[in-house]
Amino acid sequence: MDSIVIQGGNKLNGTIPISGAKNAALPLMIASLLTSDDLILENVPHLADVESLIRILTNHGVDYKVEGKKSGETSATGRTIHFKAGEIVDTTAPYELVSKMRASFWVIGPLLTRMHEAKVSLPGGCAIGTRPVDLFLECLSALGAQLDVEAGYVIGHANNGLVGAGYRFPKVSVGATHVGLMAASLARGQTILENAAREPEIVDLANCLNAMGAKISGAGTSTIVIDGVEALHGARHRVLPDRIETGTYALAVAMTGGDVVLEGAKPNLFQTALDSIEQSGTHVETVENGIRVHRNGNGILPVDITTAPFPGFPTDMQAQFMALMTRAEGQSRITETIFENRFMHVQELARLGAQISLDGQTAIVTGNEYLTGAPVMATDLRASVSLVIAGLAAEGETVVNRVYHLDRGFERLEEKLTNCGGNIERVSG
Ligand code: EPZ
Repeated sequence: MDSIVIQGGNKLNGTIPISGAKNAALPLMIASLLTSDDLILENVPHLADVESLIRILTNHGVDYKVEGKKSGETSATGRTIHFKAGEIVDTTAPYELVSKMRASFWVIGPLLTRMHEAKVSLPGGCAIGTRPVDLFLECLSALGAQLDVEAGYVIGHANNGLVGAGYRFPKVSVGATHVGLMAASLARGQTILENAAREPEIVDLANCLNAMGAKISGAGTSTIVIDGVEALHGARHRVLPDRIETGTYALAVAMTGGDVVLEGAKPNLFQTALDSIEQSGTHVETVENGIRVHRNGNGILPVDITTAPFPGFPTDMQAQFMALMTRAEGQSRITETIFENRFMHVQELARLGAQISLDGQTAIVTGNEYLTGAPVMATDLRASVSLVIAGLAAEGETVVNRVYHLDRGFERLEEKLTNCGGNIERVSG
């Protein structure tokens, strides 16, 4: 199995191009199941999760074609992929495929609304909590689906098609909101989703669905109104920049010191996290081509954070922020409110010399100027990258094992960091 070897201590200086967002690309690709026309997605990142979803979609009958590079495009330019679900040949999403990635469960929405039936394995994904599917089932039942859970599969029918309805999510869920949006787009009549997730990736999906002929308003607020239409058509849509990747590299610069422009990044996609990064003593400014992040000379200040649904501090940046706080001049408190088991990086950061104690859902981090390199491994994507950025700032060598987690969500990670002076390489094993 490959590992990533880092010699810590170098500052980061230069430019890092930001890729298309994984968590926007996945639901957008799934939306291709809603039409028999071409859905053309630009700026699709080259990630293991994207490839896994392509396997699932092709199993349902989706054809895809990657556009060749145009003159002037570089390896940093995201791919343009055409998806065409001319005919859905199979409404089953099998365990072998769905268990690898939670988002693949979301095909249940388009399959039920377009084909009036679906059999989808209960999902897998990062081991960060129990991650049930009750909200999906409640929302789809409200739209008239009959659903049963049998032998690890959700089996759904909507013999006369889904019917618009009002539904209030008892808890904010990104995935269930994506599914509600897709399912309601082809339902008969109006759906009103309340307490919907407000994440930028929800807005990106709604914009794409509207370009395909859907009638959705209110995405980005907690009440979304969807007037169902009979059919959707093809569209061309550009995936928005990855706010979690942006924040991760901003935190890497905050950790190591240096001066980096995050090219193509948009501050409004993660303002709360940017504010916390600034409070830590790192300078952040919006520049013409993205966001400039720099910290030279001054120490890192402790900052308390609490994760929350958008526009709060994103749970997907909690581990990376904790890595930064391990080097702060004082104590900070990091509270996780979204997932009940998202502190798996704590014991791995401790291998690098970090001082962290847990009190329920709060981690108390006592900063320490020096981290020391060590072998580490993580059980989820964001935890893995927190170890990479800690390794960049640690003295000596850090070896991050189980690199496949990183490949799920960070495109060309080593190349992007090496180009800015990081000493990091992949070693095949
Ligand atoms: C999305 O996951 C993201 N994944 C996650 O990113 C992200 O951490 C999460 O949203 C929160 O922002 C993608 O977009 C592909 P949720 P999702 O449904 O949709 C509970 C990454 O590293 N819940 O908003 O699965 C759930 O257990 C990943 O890129 C129910 O109780 O998250 C959690 O506590 C990791 N019942 C909370 O809601 C349900 O039916 C929020 O989860 C559904 C969810």
